[in-house]
Amino acid sequence: MQYTFPENFWWGTAASGPQTEGVFEGDNKGDSIWDYWYKESPELFFNQVGPEKTSVFYEKFQEDIQLMKETGHTTFRTSIQWSRLIPNGTGEVNQTAVNFYNEVIDELIANDIEPFINLYHFDMPMKMQEKGGWESRETVEAYVAFAKVCFELFGDRVKKWFTHNEPIVPVEGGYLYQFHYPAIVDMKKAVQVAFHEILASAKAINVYHEMNLGGEIGIILNLTPSYPRDENNPEDVKAAKAADAFFNRSFLDTAVKGEFPSDLVEILSEIDVLPIIEEGDLETIKENTVDLLGVNYYQPRRIKAKESTTKLAEGPMPDDFFDNYEMPGRKMNPYRGWEIYEKGVYDILKNLRENYGNIKCYISENGMGVEGEERYVNDQGIIEDDYRIEFVQDHLKYVHQAIQEGSNVRGYHMWTCMDNWSWTNAYKNRYGLIAVDLDNNHKRTIKKSGRWFNELAKNNGFEA
Ligand code: BG6
Repeated sequence: MQYTFPENFWWGTAASGPQTEGVFEGDNKGDSIWDYWYKESPELFFNQVGPEKTSVFYEKFQEDIQLMKETGHTTFRTSIQWSRLIPNGTGEVNQTAVNFYNEVIDELIANDIEPFINLYHFDMPMKMQEKGGWESRETVEAYVAFAKVCFELFGDRVKKWFTHNEPIVPVEGGYLYQFHYPAIVDMKKAVQVAFHEILASAKAINVYHEMNLGGEIGIILNLTPSYPRDENNPEDVKAAKAADAFFNRSFLDTAVKGEFPSDLVEILSEIDVLPIIEEGDLETIKENTVDLLGVNYYQPRRIKAKESTTKLAEGPMPDDFFDNYEMPGRKMNPYRGWEIYEKGVYDILKNLRENYGNIKCYISENGMGVEGEERYVNDQGIIEDDYRIEFVQDHLKYVHQAIQEGSNVRGYHMWTCMDNWSWTNAYKNRYGLIAVDLDNNHKRTIKKSGRWFNELAKNNGFEA
C-alpha cells in the first residue's frame, strides 16, 4: 500500500542545543544545571560521559546542515541554550552566542530547511537554579525576558517557536524521580514547578503574539496514552485517568484550552499540594493558548488500580494513585526499556481531534534508541539499522491513518539527526539517522535509515 502524506508535510529531525552543541572555552557560555551536575556527580552519567562531549554541532553545523539536506530534511528542530545566550540567566546577552545562532538559522534557511526553535529543553541556567529554578517566580520572569530576546533577535527569520520541550520531564526528573537536577522528591515543589512552567509558557506566548512577527508558537509535549489493565474494571479505569491527569492533561489542557483539568485539581487539593497562584495568573493562562502543538511519542503507560502498599516516598506521590502494569506480551525496546506500541500515536491524534478542537499539530519526536549499533555496520562501514526504519514506518502508518480520518497533523520530526548525548544516559542509546564516531574527530556517517529517510521525504511518503 502507498502511504502518501498531505502536500507540504514537514519532514525532518529534532535535537536540542545542550545535547549537540558542545561547550567550548572562551565562548562565554554560562553553566546549565547539566554542566554543574556533571562536575559535581559524574558517576550518575552513563560511562561518566558529560555534557561537554556532544556531537559538536557548534563547530560542525555547516557540515551537519549539508547532511540534513542529503537526508531529505525540509525542517530541523533545535533549541537555543538559555545559558549560552544569557550566561547569568538574566542581564547581559552573549554576542558570541547571538552570532552562532544567527549563523545556524541563516544556514538552515539558505538550504531550504525550516528552523523550528524551542526555548527550553531541560537546561536551566545554574545561576537561575541557585535562585530556585522553576520553583521560583523570579525564574518565570527571567525566562519570559529570555524568550523576548530570542524573538527580537531571531523572530524575523524563525516562524515556528516552542516554549518548552516536554515540560513534565523536569518536574518528574527534578522533583519526583531524581533523574534531573536538583533530584529531590517533593510533590509540593513538583506542582509549583509545573505551575511556573505553564505560566511562563503562557506569558512567552503573550509576548510573542504581541510582537506580531507573523509566525506561530506552541509547546512540545511528550504524550503517553494511559491504558487501563482492564477497561471493564472501574478501579483500573480510574487509576489510568489519574495517571493521564498527572502526566498528560496537566500540560495539554493548560496549553490548548487554557484550563486545569478539574480531576487533577481535586487530587492536588485532596493531598494538599496546590501551588501558589497569584492574581491574574489563571487569566494569563486562559488567554494565551498555543497556535500549534508538538507531540513527542515514544511509549504508552499501562496502568492498573493501586495494589502495592509500598510507597515511593514519605510524602505524596503521583504513584499513590495507580500502579504501573507490566502487560504480558507487550513489545519492548530492550535497550531503553520502553514499550513499542505504534497505535499509541493514532490514539493521541484521535484524542486531539475529538477533545482538543483538532489543534494543528505535528509529531515533534519519535524514534528508537539502540545500544551497541556498531554490530550492525556492514563492510562499507554503514550501520544497517532496519529496526529503525521499521519503527518509523510502523508509526507513520498510524499517523497516516489519523490524517485520513481528519487529524490536523502537519509534519514529522524524528529523534534525531546525529547520534547525540542524552542527559544521564549519555551515549548509551543511539537514535540518529547519522552515526557519530566520538573517537574519530566526531566523524559523521549516514546510516541506512538516513538514506531511507531521504526517499521518504522526497516521495512525501512510502510504500509498504
Ligand atoms: C526525549 C527528550 O524525551 O527523549 C530528548 O526530549 C531525549 O532530549 C530523548 O534525548 C531520548 O532519551 P533517552 O533517555 O532514551 O536517551
